[in-house]
Amino acid sequence: MTEVIFEFLGKIGFVHPLHPALTHIPMGMVMGAVTFRMASFLPKLKMLARTGYHCIILGLLGIFPTAFSGYLDWQNTFGGEWEFLIILKMVLAGILLIVLTTIAIIDDPEQPKLDKRTLLYLLTILLAIGLGFSGGQLQYG
Ligand code: HEM
Repeated sequence: MTEVIFEFLGKIGFVHPLHPALTHIPMGMVMGAVTFRMASFLPKLKMLARTGYHCIILGLLGIFPTAFSGYLDWQNTFGGEWEFLIILKMVLAGILLIVLTTIAIIDDPEQPKLDKRTLLYLLTILLAIGLGFSGGQLQYG
């Protein structure tokens, strides 16, 4: 399947890895979610919690194509070879999926509080940093 996809992309002139472009969805949405969540605690800015929550939903939806394209690039560029950074990325992506899903279910963006839900928002940024760092290590060494 991987070969078919990259052969097709090559024929239409796209010869780059797919994953780097898609990583901006979960990475950007997580950064937006945390920024808006924290900003919502400032006076008169409570409504920004809803914006942060919407970022969580879009980030959650973005994980699936991002992880799939990561898998494709891993097969195509790295020959599907198992190494620590790939395993780390799979684990971090899985945890990020669980944390985003949990926030989507339990958060109440109408009543943002500095509680365990906000702590989960902060956790997503740590996971995104881990994913970005391990991805950068894979790409640039
Ligand atoms: C939400 C999940 C993920 C995020 C946010 C993410 C993020 C990133 C980032 C920021 C980079 C650096 C891209 C660049 O050079 O500009 C990267 C690279 C990479 N990631 Fe991920 N990643 C995720 C999941 C995965 C998974 C599940 C795999 C493998 C199964 C994977 C495999 C790779 C590979 C092989 C690279 C090296 C660049 C390439 O050939 O695409 N990633 N990732």
